[in-house]
Amino acid sequence: MSFPSNFLWGGATAANQVEGGFGQGGKGVSIADLLSNGTHSSPRIISKQSEEGLYYPNRVASDFYHHYREDIALMAEMGFKAYRMSIAWTRIYPTGEEETPNQQGLDFYKDVFKTLKEYSIEPVVTLSHYEMPVELTNRYNGWADRRVIDMFVKYAKTVFEYYKEDVRYWLTFNEINCGCLPLGNYMSLGIRNEGTRNFLDQVDDINKRYQGLHHQFVASARAVIEGHKINPDFKIGNMIAMMPVYPLTPDPKDMLLYQKNWRDMQYYCADVQVRGEYPYYAKRFWEENGISLNITEEDKAYLKEGTVDFYSLSYYQTNCVTVNPDVALASGNLLGGAKNPYLESSEWGWQIDPEGLRFTLNEIYARYQIPLLIVENGLGAFDKLEENNEIHDPYRIDYLRAHIKAMDEAIKDGVDLFGYTWWGCIDLISASTGEMGKRYGFVYVDSDDYGNGSFNRYRKDSFYWYKKVIASNGEDLD
Ligand code: BG6
Repeated sequence: MSFPSNFLWGGATAANQVEGGFGQGGKGVSIADLLSNGTHSSPRIISKQSEEGLYYPNRVASDFYHHYREDIALMAEMGFKAYRMSIAWTRIYPTGEEETPNQQGLDFYKDVFKTLKEYSIEPVVTLSHYEMPVELTNRYNGWADRRVIDMFVKYAKTVFEYYKEDVRYWLTFNEINCGCLPLGNYMSLGIRNEGTRNFLDQVDDINKRYQGLHHQFVASARAVIEGHKINPDFKIGNMIAMMPVYPLTPDPKDMLLYQKNWRDMQYYCADVQVRGEYPYYAKRFWEENGISLNITEEDKAYLKEGTVDFYSLSYYQTNCVTVNPDVALASGNLLGGAKNPYLESSEWGWQIDPEGLRFTLNEIYARYQIPLLIVENGLGAFDKLEENNEIHDPYRIDYLRAHIKAMDEAIKDGVDLFGYTWWGCIDLISASTGEMGKRYGFVYVDSDDYGNGSFNRYRKDSFYWYKKVIASNGEDLD
């Protein structure tokens, strides 16, 4: 196998989906705390304030807040070299507007990093993973308002300064290209337009959304600039949800649609964050969609200076695109598409495509030529806890094995890939449905969709399998 000896094998979580600890340690209310649970067929509800009769799963999550020492010990037992996690902005600045940070929040993560250090696990820290103070939504409609940039930069500087000896790898915004979709209004941009309630069908104002995304680009660039001033050794990356598509047929119209999808969905954000300016095709995209952005000269200077050191991505599945409206459809992470007859799907209808990962890594690397880090890849599935507390998850092992082989091929192709963190290494709350039952972990957390359970942790079969993979640096895939 081709994995370099310092390859960062590990796992990933996000504060809002794993921590719980609602209202504890001075934490403020985040946008995720006001998202109800959903199911396969019923969407999550976006509440303005807590409503009786609704359950808010992120408030409890996997209770990492009280189990982090145990959870990190389990990661260490698997041999993790890296743990990708996020800081909850609301633990540091509960409403986003305080002048001084919340010391209890700073202390909490300090101890998390100290515990990781004891096991020589490298933290990879996302500043904003689908979580911001809901007060910024209430007062400013989230990222739609330029003033939120300064609040984010204040928060970023605080944590960069406080953890400058503890953390080397940082990511600015999780899946920033989620803002290219109406779904991204609330979860990614903190925008809750009047009338919004259904998570899957939000009231959308495309101009406001792309302006909000522009504000995130500027905030990300300013964070990169400030981070490098605080510690020149920091490596600060972007994070893109890769949702690759293939043309369903060789019809040239499908080919053009495929190219447009890659530009508008996969490349639009990274072109700005890696190359430091909007790409050539943006102008036509804006014109055709009635988007008129306020981009200042100062913004342009920040974008130019604050380009990222590496590119990180999530990858779950691929879809197809076609101009033909009469085709079978498939769902997916953030976005679905036309069904690919050559692929199988997960229980949630996401098409499993390991070879697409090799293809994708090559496409990204050819375009940007900077180091790549996979910070999410995984399989959400229903797992069964047996009476002897065993969990047999061969489907997860198969998925993982196939994707590791694809990474190996990509590295052999010449791609500079320096790590892989499996999504939801410890079971956590699903972002799209709010379910606990959609499990990704190597570690089973005994809790149901309503937070009932012992919260005991149990090792799944995949736990032992991944441990073996890491110990052999990707050689032993039996
Ligand atoms: C990514 C997100 O979109 O996919 C995660 O960054 C999310 O937050 C993951 O959990 C898997 O999606 P889901 O909807 O199955 O949780």
